[in-house]
Formats: sequence, C-alpha cells, structure tokens
Amino acid sequence: MKRRTKVVILMAGFLLVSTLLWAQNKGAKEIVIPGGTTGSVSVRHHVHQNILGDCNLCHNLFPQTAGIVQKLKDEGKLEKKKVMNQCQKCHREKVNAGLKSGPVTCKGCHAK
Ligand code: HEC
Ligand code: HEC
Ligand code: HEC
Repeated sequence: MKRRTKVVILMAGFLLVSTLLWAQNKGAKEIVIPGGTTGSVSVRHHVHQNILGDCNLCHNLFPQTAGIVQKLKDEGKLEKKKVMNQCQKCHREKVNAGLKSGPVTCKGCHAK
C-alpha cells in the first residue's frame, strides 16, 4: 500500500471515531426515578455529567437505559435503595469536604 493511501485511511478512521464520540447518547437532561412511597426523585443528569465527568460513578449500578433502575428492582436484580445510598454517599462526602453538593435529607431528594 502506498504511504498516501495509509494516511487517508488513518484520517478516515480518526474522523469516524470523533463523530461517534461526539454523537454519544448522553440521555435526558432531567431524569425522574421512582422512589416508592417517599416520592419520586429528580436528577439533573447533565449537571452531574458535567461536574462528575465519569458516567460510572452512577452507571456502575445500572446501564444507560431509561426506566432501568425500577425495572431491575422489580426483577430483584438490584437491591432497593442501593442506588440511593450511592447518591447519598457522594453528597455526604462533598459536604464533609466543604464542596458544593446535593441533598442529604430525604425531602431534599424525594418530592411528595
Ligand atoms: C448522577 C448519576 C449519573 C451520572 C453521573 C450519569 N448518569 Fe446517566 N442516568 C442516571 C439515571 C438515574 C438514569 C435513569 C435510569 C432510570 O430511568 O431508571 C440515567 C439514564 C441514562 C440514559 C438513558 C435515559 C435517557 O434519557 O436516554 C443514558 C443514555 C445515560 N444515562 C447516559 C449517561 C452518560 C453518557 C453519562 C456520562 C457522561 C451518564 N449518563 C452519567 C444517572 C447518572
Ligand atoms: C441523594 C438523594 C436521596 C436521598 C437524600 C434520599 N433518597 Fe431515598 N431514594 C433515592 C433514589 C434515587 C431512590 C430510587 C433508587 C433506589 O431504590 O436506590 C430512592 C428510593 C427510596 C425508597 C424506595 C425503596 C424501594 O422500596 O424501592 C424509599 C422508601 C426511600 N428512598 C426513602 C428515603 C428516606 C426515608 C430518606 C431519608 C432518610 C431518603 N430516601 C433519602 C434518593 C434519595
Ligand atoms: C459522585 C458524586 C455524586 C453522585 C454519585 C450523585 N451526585 Fe447529586 N450532586 C453531586 C454534586 C457535586 C452536586 C452539586 C451540583 C452543583 O449544583 O454544582 C449534586 C447535586 C444534586 C442535586 C441538587 C440539584 C441538582 O439537581 O443539581 C440533586 C437533587 C442530586 N444531586 C441528586 C442525585 C441523585 C438522585 C443521585 C443518584 C442517582 C446523585 N445525585 C448522585 C454529586 C453527586
């Protein structure tokens, strides 16, 4: 293969990868998760994505699919309050470190 052909192929590959990254589905800006009798919980998804950077700080427990948290809980594949405890843990750590954080009280997250 000619050197020029190789360069063209490399560049095409680079463009493809950048387009895929750019088009990554980041999901809804606002998400509401069912929270049982305590009321549903709203998350500003994009705010968290921008501040935290790492998707897996939350998605380690569930895939990037709408409605999946409740579905997995219903199927007994995800412990109740497991996601909640992870949310709360991070918020507490940030509060303790004197950083901007999210709610740590029930009412702060659950809207009746
Ligand atoms: C603060 C926790 C958190 C972080 C961080 C987070 N997500 Fe999510 N994401 C959620 C929750 C909660 C849901 C909703 C799950 C459900 O409906 O059961 C969700 C759902 C989604 C969905 C499917 C729903 C939709 O609106 O299409 C996509 C796609 C997604 N996330 C992508 C991402 C990507 C990409 C990142 C990282 C750039 C990310 N998320 C970071 C919590 C988070
Ligand atoms: C940081 C946000 C946050 C805080 C603070 C919080 N919760 Fe939650 N809670 C959630 C989320 C998200 C869910 C749904 C996912 C899950 O079950 O892990 C949930 C789920 C629940 C559920 C339903 C569990 C089930 O049966 O499926 C109950 C009950 C609940 N929370 C009670 C409480 C109480 C009581 C407090 C205060 C002591 C509290 N929560 C504080 C976010 C929060
Ligand atoms: C790894 C850390 C981390 C995790 C995990 C996390 N949060 Fe947060 N959360 C933050 C920080 C930091 C802020 C403050 C954002 C700001 O206003 O600058 C915040 C803010 C919030 C707020 C306040 C207003 C808003 O939406 O920005 C809510 C409500 C909230 N988080 C809910 C949740 C829920 C529900 C989950 C779990 C699904 C969750 N968070 C998981 C770090 C986290």
